Amino acid sequence: MLGPPGSGKGTQAKLIKAKFNIPHISTGILLREDISAGTELGILANKFMEIGELVPDEVILKMVETILDDEENKSSFIFDGFPRTIPQSEGFDKILSNRNLTLDHVVNIEVLEDEVVNRLSSRWSCPNCDSVYNTISKQPDVAGICDVCGSELNQRDDDKPKTVRNRLSVYFKQTEPLIDFYKNKGLLRTVSGDGGHNSVFDRILGEFSKLDN
Ligand code: AP5
Repeated sequence: MLGPPGSGKGTQAKLIKAKFNIPHISTGILLREDISAGTELGILANKFMEIGELVPDEVILKMVETILDDEENKSSFIFDGFPRTIPQSEGFDKILSNRNLTLDHVVNIEVLEDEVVNRLSSRWSCPNCDSVYNTISKQPDVAGICDVCGSELNQRDDDKPKTVRNRLSVYFKQTEPLIDFYKNKGLLRTVSGDGGHNSVFDRILGEFSKLDN
């Protein structure tokens, strides 16, 4: 899943997971788990994440390799927020080919910058089960409480306006080049991220079904 911060990568990855029963691997969620657990990786990652910079490529590639080793009996995955740089995509190719896996689709969600800022300033997340809400587009049944596990919702530290602006500029500089990289490989499936969650999901399914015909 590719797209700027707040484009809906996580939201759509969860819908794809539910429909096709494919594990969802979000490097952002994994890093936040390490930060909460106070691991060495979490302490290192936090220095980059709190200012909206990317965690170094070698750290991310090692983390992805470890996850795939832990899931060696599975052959399909949805990667959300990874790869995020050209060196990560090149490293990912090697990781996949060492395991006889292939990358089939790169879903690229397009959303305008102002919409991203609106979505992130109104996002609330569950620190316990990673469910994501929005005070405008996806409110929980009880304000401030997770529908799934009943925990108190919070706002991510990196959703502060100044950090969001830096995450966006990092996206344009380091991640956006992946659009051409994957277009040239014939893997890019670009959809508009406008409209509700289900409209975007229908567009993604439409892209997949084009390839079946
Ligand atoms: P990460 O957690 O991956 O953050 P991100 O890419 O910035 O993406 P977000 O989680 O903010 O947004 P999203 O696109 O998933 O949108 P969501 O579905 O939540 O990474 C965080 C940090 O970790 C990075 O900055 C970096 O430091 C580090 N990191 C992670 N991976 C890395 C890597 N590979 N390499 C290096 N560093 C890495 O939706 C957002 C909001 O909008 C929600 O409230 C949602 O309800 C709402 N919404 C969703 N869809 C719609 C819609 N269609 N209409 C209206 N509202 C919507």
